[in-house]
Amino acid sequence: MSASLVILGATGDLTGRYLLPALAQVLPQIEGGLQLVGVAQDDLDTGAFRRQVDERLGQVTGDGGRDVHERLAGSAEYVRGDVTDAATLQAALDLAGRHGTGRDPVVVYLALPHVLFEGVVHALGACRLPEGLRVVVEKPFGEDLEGARRLNAALAAVLPEDRTFRVDHFLAKQTVLNILGLRFANRVFEPLWSSAHITGVDIVFDETVDAQARASYYDRSGALRDMVQNHLLQVLAYVAMEPPVSTAPADLSARKADVLRAVRTPSREALAATSLRGRYTRGEVPDGEGARTVDSYVDAPGIDPARETETYAEVVLSVDNWRWSGVPFRLRTGKALGARRREVVIHFAEVPHVVFAGAPPQRNVLRLQLDPDRMSLRVNVNGQGDPFELEPVDLDTDLAKQEPGPYGQLLLAVLDGDTRLSAHAAEAEEGWRIVEPVLAAWGDGVVPLLDYPAGSDGPVRPAPQG
Ligand code: BG6
Repeated sequence: MSASLVILGATGDLTGRYLLPALAQVLPQIEGGLQLVGVAQDDLDTGAFRRQVDERLGQVTGDGGRDVHERLAGSAEYVRGDVTDAATLQAALDLAGRHGTGRDPVVVYLALPHVLFEGVVHALGACRLPEGLRVVVEKPFGEDLEGARRLNAALAAVLPEDRTFRVDHFLAKQTVLNILGLRFANRVFEPLWSSAHITGVDIVFDETVDAQARASYYDRSGALRDMVQNHLLQVLAYVAMEPPVSTAPADLSARKADVLRAVRTPSREALAATSLRGRYTRGEVPDGEGARTVDSYVDAPGIDPARETETYAEVVLSVDNWRWSGVPFRLRTGKALGARRREVVIHFAEVPHVVFAGAPPQRNVLRLQLDPDRMSLRVNVNGQGDPFELEPVDLDTDLAKQEPGPYGQLLLAVLDGDTRLSAHAAEAEEGWRIVEPVLAAWGDGVVPLLDYPAGSDGPVRPAPQG
């Protein structure tokens, strides 16, 4: 396979931090080679762009794979211009097409602020497009349901759904993919996988990193738009969906869309009672062996405190179907917290009858941890000493680190024409249908914006009045 990759936003943060390092990892697997065309507004010529790419790839690969990345950097092309201008895009597409065999896929990757997406897609619509063109869109996919619908319509007017990639790098995380394997390649979990045996599911993504470095993006986004609307709801979909007929992209996305449709639109009353919204203040977060001081979110350059952007979000969702009725799905994520905790936790019900004297058995808990990937199942066993005394043990295993990492997997999937690491149109819209009422209720002050010190466990719900 060979391919051409046109990166719009080729000098930006996403390209430098994620795409180029991922490319360095996967290049050796792209046998026929890759033609890279960068588009941005920076005043660079092709030579300067090649040096930039070479430097970035070199930082990641060191000397290993040097010949491969030199070939990529050495043949890269640069088009300077406005990414929403059809003439600029046409120039980039022509360069991409010139190098290929005509049968190679041409991929256009929108590594851009989301406000530009619609403009780019409209401009693409005015271009002579190469046959089989694939378009990759990052999150956030729109700003609200209306925006997502408009963007979906614009994309659908230019190319078919199976060549549209709304990539979500969480879908390429090993533990997330393993939810499918665990559920549908084992006999022992699926019969228990319902409200008959499960009392609650936590989907947790606590980060110690702060939002300072990406303040200008983050301040307009916040934890709900940045993490919940996309990543955490995709994880929920894998945990809660019905068994698909196969792992074909259409089967998986149909089951994900079904279960997202079953997520109840959160009411203001439910949000007032169960959701939490927070913003960090100055404090110390763990950093390697030591700690580092993080300033208050509102003191970071580029932050407008009046926007009241949340850096912590917690919502409890209900899935209204036969399988999950009555089971709370608690989604929580935040920046600058005291511990890095990324996991899906499945809480099982108590045994129906306790036959052992002494301390009752603990409830079974299945814990699926992300980065490093690990799974553990808490069970009760007869311990040492009195053979009728129980003790809990964790059956656990580390999962080997996945290579290449999530962004490498995303790129390979796109080049392969595989949309399984992407959200499909309906899933993106359902994500907004669920999150929009939360944004609205929070914006109206139904839930107070609570301070939490950086390095803590997040905001604490105020005690009820009276
Ligand atoms: C990104 C979010 O999509 O995912 C970030 O924008 C978040 O805010 C990141 O930190 C977490 O994913 P990972 O896998 O890069 O740790």
